Amino acid sequence: MPDSILTIADATKRYGPVNALDRVNLEVEEGEFLTLLGPSGSGKTTLLSAIAGFAPLSEGRIDLRGRDITGEPPEHRDFGMVFQGYALFPTMTVRDNIAFPLRVRKRPTAEIKKRVEYCLGLVQMEEFADRMPTQMSGGQQQRIALARALSFEPQVLLLDEPLSALDKKLRADLQWELKSLHDKLGVTFIYVTHDQDEALSMSDRVVILKDGRIQQEGVPDTLYNHPRNSFVADFLGKSNFLDLPVSAREDDALTCSIGGTKFPVMAPGATATGDVLKVALRPERIRLGQPGQEMLDGTVRQVSYLGERCLVMVDHEDVGTLIVSQPTWKAGVTPRAGLPVSFGWDADACVVLEPGG
Ligand SMILES: Nc1ncnc2c1ncn2[C@@H]1O[C@H](COP(=O)(O)OP(=O)(O)O)[C@@H](O)[C@H]1O
Ligand SMILES: [Mg+2]
Repeated sequence: MPDSILTIADATKRYGPVNALDRVNLEVEEGEFLTLLGPSGSGKTTLLSAIAGFAPLSEGRIDLRGRDITGEPPEHRDFGMVFQGYALFPTMTVRDNIAFPLRVRKRPTAEIKKRVEYCLGLVQMEEFADRMPTQMSGGQQQRIALARALSFEPQVLLLDEPLSALDKKLRADLQWELKSLHDKLGVTFIYVTHDQDEALSMSDRVVILKDGRIQQEGVPDTLYNHPRNSFVADFLGKSNFLDLPVSAREDDALTCSIGGTKFPVMAPGATATGDVLKVALRPERIRLGQPGQEMLDGTVRQVSYLGERCLVMVDHEDVGTLIVSQPTWKAGVTPRAGLPVSFGWDADACVVLEPGG
């Protein structure tokens, strides 16, 4: 087991009647890239602020390497922070911005000079040292904010949607850079985003929040392939949801049926004949074929072309409408509205969700 750097126990934060955090329990491992992912208002910033010490908890406790820091002010925690806006000091040069946390900590001048150069190099901004923040683009300013947050060698770096104000292409470039910076430095990163692709591509582990509660946590591919409930299945990628009656069971292999067509579903756990399973089915796991070729017959309602793949809405009289994602370069059929098709999936494509989930 890797060591925990932070232990968050039953963290609750109330704002009047709102529980911004509701009994959150979380271990953050030393050196990991942990992402808090959730829609707007789910409590991401509140949790990050509680870790930083800016938002005292209503209940619960936070430990840093086994030491209770619940009541400690932010400056004693010594965590680096990067926010969404470019919160550089506007009247200071880049160099002075990066030196600021070191001056506050009264580090020797020679050390400050060395550290500032090193941090400029980390974010590849050496030639910008004498510029003012207003003389730089948003992406450049955010690089400097990152260098400033790392200058005093914090043990934890907290990042609250640092890329969300940038355009898509630049955001993608900086995602790669942040990830490689993390790998190079080995500092623990706690990263907040509402962007599922960003969370999946950068993180060692993702925590999904909704209404101040953890819905599920895990490594990206486990979360994507084994969502626990419909919220996770739909927030992290897209899913179709089906109610499948179970007609037979043999160990973990079930037989379910749709409109008289029987097919296998892999479902570990307690399920009995006669139960109705709620399952999530990823659009990319559904195959399209000529009529009669796959499990079920349906009709294409609508097609949306996205370049490398297309999204196809298929109507079936018992299932309703399913979304199918198929790569355009190996399409089984060329879908268009009104076309009769068949569709099907493998036994392991249906993910059984928690009852009520
Ligand atoms: N200072 C505050 N006063 C009152 N309510 C707040 C305050 N900060 C956050 N909230 C509420 O707490 C909930 C979580 O907010 P927040 O942590 O900012 O969400 P996120 O960062 O995921 O968008 C929201 O319902 C929000 O309105
Ligand atoms: Mg926020």
